Amino acid sequence: MKHPDKVVILDYGSQYTQLIARRVREAGVYSEILTCEASIEEIAARKAQAIILSGGPASVTGADSPALQQGVLELGLPVLGICYGMQLLAHELGGRITASQDREYGRAELTIAAYGACPLWDGLAEKGVHSVWMSHGDHVEAVPPGFEVLASTGNVPVAAMADPARRIYCLQFHPEVAHTDDGSLILANFLFKVAGLTPGWTMSSFVESNVAELRERIGADEHVVCGLSGGIDSTVVALLLHKAIGKRLTCIFVDNGLLRMNEGEEVIGYLKEHFDLNLVWVQAQDEFLDKLEGVQDPERKRKIIGHTFIEIFDREAAKIPNVKYLAQGTLYPDVIESISFKGGPSAVIKSHHNVGGLPDHMNLALVEPLRELFKDEVRRVAVELGLPDSIIWRHPFPGPGLAIRIVGEITRERLDILRRADRIVQSELRATDWYRKVWQGFAVLLPLKTVGVMGDGRTYEHVVALRVVDSVDAMTADWTRLPSEILARMSNRIINEVKGVNRVVFDISSKPPGTIEWE
Ligand code: XMP
Repeated sequence: MKHPDKVVILDYGSQYTQLIARRVREAGVYSEILTCEASIEEIAARKAQAIILSGGPASVTGADSPALQQGVLELGLPVLGICYGMQLLAHELGGRITASQDREYGRAELTIAAYGACPLWDGLAEKGVHSVWMSHGDHVEAVPPGFEVLASTGNVPVAAMADPARRIYCLQFHPEVAHTDDGSLILANFLFKVAGLTPGWTMSSFVESNVAELRERIGADEHVVCGLSGGIDSTVVALLLHKAIGKRLTCIFVDNGLLRMNEGEEVIGYLKEHFDLNLVWVQAQDEFLDKLEGVQDPERKRKIIGHTFIEIFDREAAKIPNVKYLAQGTLYPDVIESISFKGGPSAVIKSHHNVGGLPDHMNLALVEPLRELFKDEVRRVAVELGLPDSIIWRHPFPGPGLAIRIVGEITRERLDILRRADRIVQSELRATDWYRKVWQGFAVLLPLKTVGVMGDGRTYEHVVALRVVDSVDAMTADWTRLPSEILARMSNRIINEVKGVNRVVFDISSKPPGTIEWE
């Protein structure tokens, strides 16, 4: 697609690289991340108007530290080096770096040399104290020839520097993290005042150009199949394709018997009602549940569900004439080639896929209209497409569904108990703004019974666990400090309304070491 202006971010392994990309996009400029090992040809091919070098865990003075690709500065583009990116530029251009054993981590107060002298600081003078977020070991002791010092902190003499003639700007602190006051303003100053970019990346421009591109790529006769899961990603994919090729898209929704209460009705019912989609709604509850009978091992559950899904999808897709493409909701974080240096904190990111890999023998070409987007951007596209809040803000729901929230054997009876408990959790969260604030909230059914007392009688019944977590990307998560009144209401209602449950517990584990789901 044609992007007006673009920034390439070279990733040196910082845990914040994706945040840089998001901040740039939030400023209205499209950004892409490339590994710092990308060749100069690959970098040049992106036809970017500016380059940002990320931070990273290495030390430029170390033996195997990643270098600046030859030719990057010769592209003549404005460059912003952040943290390791700054040290790398200083090192390459003849400055002096001081290696330090002690890392400076956390807040520091920035002293700006001269507000008016540098466009990076435009709009900052009025704001008083500037707290910035530091996370580094080494620092620049002496700037390279042609550079001037723009700011310092109590610990580092050069907290920012620039060679304005070559439009090379450097920050020792992290403007991309929320803890840096006015970090977004500083980044925007780089983009618009230093690099002279024009903001043009909006979700309506995305929808328009994406639909045009899909129409062109798919041609006039070919058909596309798309698996709908009920989640936001596949829903948005379906609607973009529907806009592009109308009835030549067929969506397949498989009810595997492991869905939450009203899951199919809520999302698929809405789509059926509001969009003239070709929709195949496959009732495959028995097929899945029969195969899962007696299975307790989480990995076996996942495999059985994955394979059965593929068999069914395959069977249904084969009935559609002239299908050439399969549409998937792959997002940008799944596409980024992440790097991990020896000894560094940046981890190679694991990704989940909704349908766990469809078979090669289908011979369908992939269409992935969301490959360029982050999750929050998908939500904005959904707004653009007119989807209601109830769909846009739905919590993620795993492909294997309730199967991985029933610890132990899956039976129809246990599914029924979990569904009714989960409905109470959903409705209590939705009754407040907590549904929007948390990443995910749900109930889990445990494979044990405990003794209780109800009325005058002894009970011996199931235990339900509540799992409610905060997260930004599901890679890490913490349990939500949900107000105790809400927990109390959930617990009371579950025990009173769901027959067969006499105890409710709250999961207070973070991820890591726990995971969000229990299996
Ligand atoms: P975990 O349990 O790994 O989950 O902390 C992270 C996020 O991914 C979801 N999840 C899945 N989503 N297929 C999916 O589409 C899966 O197999 C799967 N397993 C976990 C989970 O709900 C959470 O949001």
